[in-house]
Amino acid sequence: MNILLLGSGGREHALAWKISQSPRLTRLFIAPGNAGTSMAGTNVGIAADDFPGIRDFVLQNHITMVVVGPEDPLVKGIADYFSGDEQLKGVPVIGPNRQAAMLEGSKDFAKAFMMRHGIPTARYRSVTSGTADEGISFLGTLKPPYVLKADGLAAGKGVLIIENRDKAASELKDMLQGRFGAASSTVVIEEFLKGIELSMFVITDGISYKILPEAKDYKRIGAGDTGPNTGGMGAVSPVPFASKEFRKKVEERIIIPTIKGLQEDGIEYKGFIFFGLINCGGDPFVIEYNARLGDPESQAILPRLQTDILDLFEGVATKTLAEKSVSIDRRFVTAVVLASDGYPDAYEKGKEISHMEQVKDSIIFQAGTKREDNRIVTAGGRVMAVSSYGDTLKEALAVSYKNAGTISYSNKYYRPDIGFDL
Ligand code: AMP
Ligand code: GLY
Repeated sequence: MNILLLGSGGREHALAWKISQSPRLTRLFIAPGNAGTSMAGTNVGIAADDFPGIRDFVLQNHITMVVVGPEDPLVKGIADYFSGDEQLKGVPVIGPNRQAAMLEGSKDFAKAFMMRHGIPTARYRSVTSGTADEGISFLGTLKPPYVLKADGLAAGKGVLIIENRDKAASELKDMLQGRFGAASSTVVIEEFLKGIELSMFVITDGISYKILPEAKDYKRIGAGDTGPNTGGMGAVSPVPFASKEFRKKVEERIIIPTIKGLQEDGIEYKGFIFFGLINCGGDPFVIEYNARLGDPESQAILPRLQTDILDLFEGVATKTLAEKSVSIDRRFVTAVVLASDGYPDAYEKGKEISHMEQVKDSIIFQAGTKREDNRIVTAGGRVMAVSSYGDTLKEALAVSYKNAGTISYSNKYYRPDIGFDL
């Protein structure tokens, strides 16, 4: 198979690493990729949402399957672009079509979907500028803190959690007036759920599904879950508090109703579904859906997947996923993200990275890196993840942290406490 993988982050390096191990692979291309993905395949200088550029590349290079890493091309309809094109329609896209990707692309759509199908989630009300008053009265029915969410994609920044009701009311008006551009012309107001978060993942062909390993992500920049939200500063898998019983509840109350709900609504979903969950006293609730794998969750879950991922992708493409089996490594994997100091706000780039070759017993998944002459330099806020196996969480973390210390660049920052709460 000739595969084109779209994206450029750590998740895509982990996908490229996994795909490159498949005996069925002939050639792997990554658009646009990073310095790490170029070790697993060939990077091509095409943006992940440049559909005409992707089209030309696919036709010229006899690509047999396109795997989509990030949400942007999905929400913009890359799967529809392929299925609607005479020459591309035989090339399967691993990732949902535009309508299915609305589970991530519109929080209002996702909430209505969950209500329709009885999937546990926080109580909510969606408002626009015309119905702001209803939103203000709904706030009055909730206890603090108040959760306000921009309906559309806002680069992970569109959720505000506010203690004070008057402040929440004024932030609501601000959002409706364009604080997050068109993404917040509709705002979802939610009841705050108290509990501990985790992420579960499935791959589906629209008919059946396979459950992948779960993970816990560390979203805040600072130790002890302090400071602003980031894309994720580390992840661990498995999650000790996700007992067999809890995972069974997730499957029965959330995963199965989601797959069935999509079928009932006539929405064909092919690809990954990421369930952002919260465990409230032993009961799972959905905080959000994503139409893709997580980053850095991928850097903790893909190393545990023993199955040939191209076999699963083929199952998705041909709707034969039910015939496939998934086998999971029982060990822990911990991914510690090395970032650029200053992230998620302003930070400097272009710092030379050294000592990566001295890393032993960890897998480095690069993210914000690029090759410059013979050097690898930083090129983003999250620079790489250091992923390690261990028979216990503690052992895996010890290896990740040892190697996080070995790798060197001048504004290196990482959280010292990934997994410590577990
Ligand atoms: P989201 O983008 O929907 O995942 O929201 C970002 C973060 O806000 C989540 O990871 C949670 O930590 C928090 N959050 C979102 N919705 C709620 C909620 N209803 N109750 C408590 N925390 C929430
Ligand atoms: N780490 C969270 C996400 O990928 O959305």
